[in-house]
Amino acid sequence: MKNLLEKEIDTRRTFAIISHPDAGKTTLTEKLLLFGKAIRQAGTVKAKKSGKFAASDWMEIEKQRGISVTSSVMSFLYEGYHINILDTPGHEDFSEDTYRTLTAVDCVVMIIDSTKGVEPQTKKLFKVCRMRGIPIFTFMNKLDREGREPLELLQEIEEVLDIESYALNWPFGTGKRFLGIYDRYNDAFIRFTGDEQEERIPKEALEAHGELQQQPTFQEGLEELELLEGAGNDFDPERVRAGELTPVFFGSALSNFGVQAFFEAFLEYAVPPQPRKTNERIVQPEEEGFSGYIFKIQANMNPQHRDRIAFLRVCSGVFERGMTVHLTRTGKTMKLSQAQFFMASDRETVEKAYPGDIIGIYDPGAYQIGDTLVEKKETYQYDELPQFPPELFAKVRAKNVMRAKQFYKGIEQLVQEGAIQLYRQDSSDEYILGAVGQLQFDVFSYRMEGEYNVEIDMVSMGERIPRWLAVNDKQLNKRLFDERSLLVKDREGRFAVLFKNDFALRYFQEKNEDVELVDLLQAQEDDFQAAK
Ligand code: G4P
Repeated sequence: MKNLLEKEIDTRRTFAIISHPDAGKTTLTEKLLLFGKAIRQAGTVKAKKSGKFAASDWMEIEKQRGISVTSSVMSFLYEGYHINILDTPGHEDFSEDTYRTLTAVDCVVMIIDSTKGVEPQTKKLFKVCRMRGIPIFTFMNKLDREGREPLELLQEIEEVLDIESYALNWPFGTGKRFLGIYDRYNDAFIRFTGDEQEERIPKEALEAHGELQQQPTFQEGLEELELLEGAGNDFDPERVRAGELTPVFFGSALSNFGVQAFFEAFLEYAVPPQPRKTNERIVQPEEEGFSGYIFKIQANMNPQHRDRIAFLRVCSGVFERGMTVHLTRTGKTMKLSQAQFFMASDRETVEKAYPGDIIGIYDPGAYQIGDTLVEKKETYQYDELPQFPPELFAKVRAKNVMRAKQFYKGIEQLVQEGAIQLYRQDSSDEYILGAVGQLQFDVFSYRMEGEYNVEIDMVSMGERIPRWLAVNDKQLNKRLFDERSLLVKDREGRFAVLFKNDFALRYFQEKNEDVELVDLLQAQEDDFQAAK
């Protein structure tokens, strides 16, 4: 017999939706929220995106200021499941937070625009999921438009993303000739009518539908399906859970077509909260003592209020309002009196939360990203969050040298908080900031002025490719480096080279064959694979 905690865990599905901008993430999220009755009408999330109203953007004030740093959580109930969708902002809102959010989910839904195939931002986010062995479900969107050949799309996923795929449903035609999908999970044909109504025809009843049988597109679909049965991968839920096989679903989020079939299969095969690694032992979600870790800190953009919200993922036990916990990094005791859930449109005070849930706790400035909170007198810390190599760099200094002290203090604190990464140029000690998205620079500059009263000068260095060096100071021949391959030190004092472009990287490598260059993301993926 399962106890109450185990039952709560079993019904949790905590995931993020990743995609390239415009693939349909907002549209799909909205359809899922509608299923869960978390919003009442279509257009709610959409309207938010255009700046009018924010369902997943609860810091309205910031929105009005034109800066949004929120990647929030939407929670709702659906068919007995507790769903937590973590938002991963794209476009100009892309930041390290987007990556870190992926450490707090148990699975991921990847949306691909079927007219375009795998796009750059999807690739980046996918890599982080792969690095952590997170199960990935694919929704191939916009089937109502003339798309690319479905078989070609599957092949692209396998080749470009290096993951095996299994189509749990199969489209018959696309665009004007789109007839519907064959649901291999339930053995039924779902006819596309375009009016958000789905007509389900069980396999046995298909013979009687002469109007379908007569269409060449339908016959082609049947042939492809047969081909897939014979030559495609086998469906193995275990491999899905291990992140080695991605189930693929075809549909149209806008027409709400194939979305329900996708969501039902997703809920069945997606994993509930899993055991997590700490520096001492593996912690099981059903352990009695509460534990969790902070994966994101939301600074209040209002300079009058220094308080912040720390986003915590519950990993084990039960969170109860007002409970006392230990911050294992410092050994300090903290009382968690102000905690919030993030419903689709509101924040709500949390009384209880279970593994897989995300809660927002009030941060008086005590927390850092990656911090572990535990209820019992334990000392473990959850595995460090991966480091994400920045892609954009900028040189920075205080406009007024008289404000140097505040400048250093501000940088120190914001870097520590994880808002931005800091490097120093080896030859001149100049400060260089690194980020994965432009938003991080904007927020940095804004906060330096608002919170530390320092105006800064920032000179963009554009995109760079960072690679770390495996050698120490003494072995390093500093004459190898120049403006195109700029030598810097990171916060831990490790040497890295910022290459101006791919060409500079290759040129350097050719000329210096014995210098080992480390791609941080790749190295972390290798470590993860080795640990498995
Ligand atoms: P994003 O959050 O991933 O950036 O994408 P979003 O959902 O905003 O969708 C991007 C555009 O693609 C929107 O059109 C949306 O209506 C459209 N779209 C989403 N799903 C489908 C689909 O299944 N079929 C078709 N044909 N279009 C789809 P837009 O013109 O940018 O916005 P709107 O003016 O239509 O709201």
